[in-house]
Amino acid sequence: MSYDVAIVGAGYVGVPLAQVFAEAGSSVLLVDVDASRVERLNRGESYIEDVSSETLKQLVENGLAATTDYDALREADAILIALPTPLSRQREPDLSIVRSATEEIAKRLRPGHLVVLESTTYPGTTREEVLPILERTGLKVGTDFHLAFSPERVDPGRTDFTTKNVPCTERAAELYGAALDTVHRVSSPEVAELTKLLENIFRSVNIALVNELAMLCERMKIDVWEVVDAAATKPFGFMSFKPGPGLGGHCIPIDPFYLTWKAREFDFTTRFIELAGEVNNTMPYHCRSLVSQALNHGAGLSLKDSKVLVLGVAYKADIGDMRESPALKIIELLANAGADVAYHDPYVPELREHGLELRSVPLDPGAHDCVVIVTAHSGIDYDALVERAKVVVDFRNATGRNGTRNGKVWKL
Ligand SMILES: NC(=O)c1ccc[n+]([C@@H]2O[C@H](COP(=O)([O-])OP(=O)(O)OC[C@H]3O[C@@H](n4cnc5c(N)ncnc54)[C@H](O)[C@@H]3O)[C@@H](O)[C@H]2O)c1
Repeated sequence: MSYDVAIVGAGYVGVPLAQVFAEAGSSVLLVDVDASRVERLNRGESYIEDVSSETLKQLVENGLAATTDYDALREADAILIALPTPLSRQREPDLSIVRSATEEIAKRLRPGHLVVLESTTYPGTTREEVLPILERTGLKVGTDFHLAFSPERVDPGRTDFTTKNVPCTERAAELYGAALDTVHRVSSPEVAELTKLLENIFRSVNIALVNELAMLCERMKIDVWEVVDAAATKPFGFMSFKPGPGLGGHCIPIDPFYLTWKAREFDFTTRFIELAGEVNNTMPYHCRSLVSQALNHGAGLSLKDSKVLVLGVAYKADIGDMRESPALKIIELLANAGADVAYHDPYVPELREHGLELRSVPLDPGAHDCVVIVTAHSGIDYDALVERAKVVVDFRNATGRNGTRNGKVWKL
């Protein structure tokens, strides 16, 4: 069996990417080390929220397949690498998964292959890390095989990038052009790698800016949400970012530090990135302090021994993704302060992370001393919640602009 595209890494990026190519008429193979994921994929059972099982089943019926066998890569024209690029415990780039997978790809590399790195990473990775491993085979880039970097973006407006010195532009652009609405070429893989990081750093820095403002507004007794909403009425020169309890998800809390690390090689300190990280990391601590104040002034209670319900633990609304969720830190901080913490999240029935082992409890606001809104899922009746709760601390402005409702609602 031969395939137009093989995608190594069937995760949040790989599976939607497979869908895009398959729907554009390409024959697609997903390669993953996780045998249970591969089995589920082949049964048409999706574990990625962005792709429904109904859609996946249809794609599998039309030929989409998954395997744990790297040898199948020999039968593919293009190999896309969509593997995790995490940070080590010392917060340094950990490229070990990409490196070891590239070694496996190299063993199966053949003339005509196009290899594209999709993982988010620092500028220089494609050329300095991936290319040497592939060329150790004796095959030469540009003549025997082709290599490109293309950051993950599966929606229209997606960008495709290829290298200047590696003449794979036409091959890569041809591949993506057939499946995507927009292909934007740049002159080198380093530009493409840094573009993806800029997008994520932009968010991290702007979120830090409004988070800092939120902490100041709390002291000044100004509603930061009202300020942000008012500023957003300016039709030009302003882009609205919302404050919140801290960064979450797989990208924004992690990717900027890939650049920080690389910058050191050039005697350069990425101060905006560091500062944004510092401010954003402070938010769960600030949130703990708000809960403590709310209990104190709103109910005459201390955090210690109070019953606190955390409402919403996923890192953003209306999904069940827990990766880097600030709720984890907030629960830990509240529990360490002696609070009796429970949580409710319709998307996360149980929580087994960071040493926590909790199950979502039914939403009964009156049964707790305080309800803390960390993630504002849309299916919750916040008016009813405020009605029934003793004290509410709202980090998402889910309860709207009704002031403090007689000292009952405390907002970030
Ligand atoms: N998740 C996002 O929203 C998102 C957005 C933009 C960019 N990215 C970037 O895309 C890349 C992939 O992220 P993701 O979220 O899809 O990761 P993920 O953790 O969801 O999926 C990775 C998959 O790779 C598999 N895997 C691990 N090692 C393997 C190996 N050696 N060979 C084959 N399969 C292996 C895992 O079993 C898993 O299924 C990362 O660089 C990430 O930063 C992610």
